[in-house]
Amino acid sequence: MKLFLFFITFIQGVILISGNNSHNGDNNKYTKYVKGTDLYKRPKGSIGTPYPTTFKENYSGDLKFLVFGDWGQKGPGTGQNQVAKAMVTWANHNKTTFVLNAGDSFYQTTNTTAPNVTDASDHEGVSSISDTKWKSYWLDIYGGRLKDITWYSVAGNHDWYNNVTAEVDYFWDVDSRFFLPSLYYVRKVTFGSGVCAAFIHFDTDPYFYNYSSYTKKNNLKQTLTDLNLHTDEQLNDRLKWLEDQLVAVQDADWIFVLGHHPLDGDCRLKDTKNYYLMYELPPILEKHGVSAYFNGHAHELAVSLANSTSPVTYFGSGAGGAKLEPECKNPTWTSPFTFGFLSVSIPADGKFLHFDYVDANNTDTPPKVIYSGSVKSRKNKTGNHGKGNDDKENHGKGNDDKENHGKENHGKGNDDKENHGKGNDGKGNDGKGNDWGYNKGRW
Ligand SMILES: *[C@@H]1O[C@H](CO)[C@@H](O)[C@H](O)[C@H]1NC(C)=O
Ligand SMILES: *[C@@H]1O[C@H](CO)[C@@H](O)[C@H](O)[C@H]1NC(C)=O
Ligand SMILES: *[C@@H]1O[C@H](CO)[C@@H](O)[C@H](O)[C@H]1NC(C)=O
Ligand SMILES: *[C@@H]1O[C@H](CO)[C@@H](O)[C@H](O)[C@H]1NC(C)=O
Ligand SMILES: *[C@@H]1O[C@H](CO)[C@@H](O)[C@H](O)[C@H]1NC(C)=O
Ligand SMILES: *[C@@H]1O[C@H](CO)[C@@H](O)[C@H](O)[C@H]1NC(C)=O
Ligand SMILES: *[C@@H]1O[C@H](CO)[C@@H](O)[C@H](O)[C@H]1NC(C)=O
Ligand SMILES: *[C@@H]1O[C@H](CO)[C@@H](O)[C@H](O)[C@H]1NC(C)=O
Ligand SMILES: *[C@@H]1O[C@H](CO)[C@@H](O)[C@H](O)[C@H]1NC(C)=O
Ligand SMILES: *[C@@H]1O[C@H](CO)[C@@H](O)[C@H](O)[C@H]1NC(C)=O
Repeated sequence: MKLFLFFITFIQGVILISGNNSHNGDNNKYTKYVKGTDLYKRPKGSIGTPYPTTFKENYSGDLKFLVFGDWGQKGPGTGQNQVAKAMVTWANHNKTTFVLNAGDSFYQTTNTTAPNVTDASDHEGVSSISDTKWKSYWLDIYGGRLKDITWYSVAGNHDWYNNVTAEVDYFWDVDSRFFLPSLYYVRKVTFGSGVCAAFIHFDTDPYFYNYSSYTKKNNLKQTLTDLNLHTDEQLNDRLKWLEDQLVAVQDADWIFVLGHHPLDGDCRLKDTKNYYLMYELPPILEKHGVSAYFNGHAHELAVSLANSTSPVTYFGSGAGGAKLEPECKNPTWTSPFTFGFLSVSIPADGKFLHFDYVDANNTDTPPKVIYSGSVKSRKNKTGNHGKGNDDKENHGKGNDDKENHGKENHGKGNDDKENHGKGNDGKGNDGKGNDWGYNKGRW
């Protein structure tokens, strides 16, 4: 059966990433593509067309990722360096598997009257694959383990304001660690004891900005036109694609969607002129039992936990460095005006997701966890769908609660052998978890 599935996926051209995850318990330091093979080819056509095949990754042990957005900005009021420093410390120590980058990776400086505004690099987004900002805003800032692991990305409006195509080109032509093969793509991740997590990367920009009334003088509108992402038909087509992907991954233990713009709290209502078609998204995510949606755009840390009417937890993490603003005023929890990031960890048994919001606001004191909680796997029928989410297990806890500071969550657990190594060689990966029905469908 395993062999059969392998051949099917091979024939369908599914891209395989060589995870190299069996060395010394370090579960993903070397995710790399083998360029120039049939399994790693750029499709013809628009970068706004969903990537035609599913990216597959295997990791041993726990799955641990950092989520943040809205980071690449310099000037007064920005905090990119301090967040980067906290993330590097965290990632090095906790052996983070990858980064989920919610977009707005590159901004113009906050100080438009500073002399350096004439600097060739001082503009929104990037201008090309050889823009010096790749180095000065990304490679030079995020060191340690963050320079080894992959950043699975979506684009934000500030990326669109300049040359969003250059960010996709950079993935294909320069460095696949900035993972953006298309504006829409799906990853299938297997980890631990055969646990499956689907990640759907969905560019929300065409749904947030009303094409017909958009008047700002930047490249966003023109690019929407160029990429065929502006007519009702085209946008409905992407929504249909999203729904098809969600249907195809219903067997997964976890389904995650990453987009730049928020879908919860007051952000849902804020600036209705620009909100455009965003309201189409939550019902689709909720109908198909998405575990969590991750976003940036609102420059704050905020979460709306799953509840009796929505199985989806909405995680906001847009405080990665760009100047802070208070935005969504009514989620379950928020910490306005705090630079920081979100850490998500799913132990190898895949039953629960644990999350920590990390405050990196104070440059004089070490970063600290300010809000933690857990979410149940979709497979736990007693819990995660719809009404079940009222129980305490799914609800976050502030840092006053001693349970969140105990050894179980923060201590040696992350280094011990149980979390590393065994998963990929063990029987876990041949188990039911891997048979998602993906291979039988239209892929
Ligand atoms: C896999 O990891 C080992 C140990 O770190 C390293 O020596 C080797 O070069 C890696 N192989 C690939 C293909 O990356
Ligand atoms: C590692 O993660 C734990 C939470 O699981 C956190 O409490 C701890 O501070 C992190 N370690 C570092 C060095 O950041
Ligand atoms: C911006 O830069 C100019 C020139 O260096 C400086 O005079 C001004 O105070 C700066 N503005 C802010 C808000 O820091
Ligand atoms: C302008 O750029 C120079 C050289 O990169 C740097 O030394 C200086 O601090 C910058 N000035 C401001 C106001 O950002
Ligand atoms: C965008 O960047 C790509 C890749 O560097 C380049 O080929 C293209 O000419 C750029 N487009 C514009 C409008 O500058
Ligand atoms: C449940 O969560 C959704 C999404 O955050 C929110 O819109 C809704 O108001 C919440 N419902 C209840 C009953 O709290
Ligand atoms: C988009 O803008 C057009 C033109 O101003 C307007 O007629 C339309 O109602 C707007 N659509 C939405 C969903 O806001
Ligand atoms: C974060 O730091 C800034 C100064 O850089 C400060 O204005 C703000 O109040 C701090 N936020 C919190 C929550 O302490
Ligand atoms: C399902 O969740 C309940 C708590 O609500 C927990 O006690 C139980 O162990 C979970 N079962 C599985 C299979 O994860
Ligand atoms: C991932 O694991 C599955 C099941 O064990 C295996 O078929 C597949 O070849 C592995 N893929 C990679 C990239 O290692």
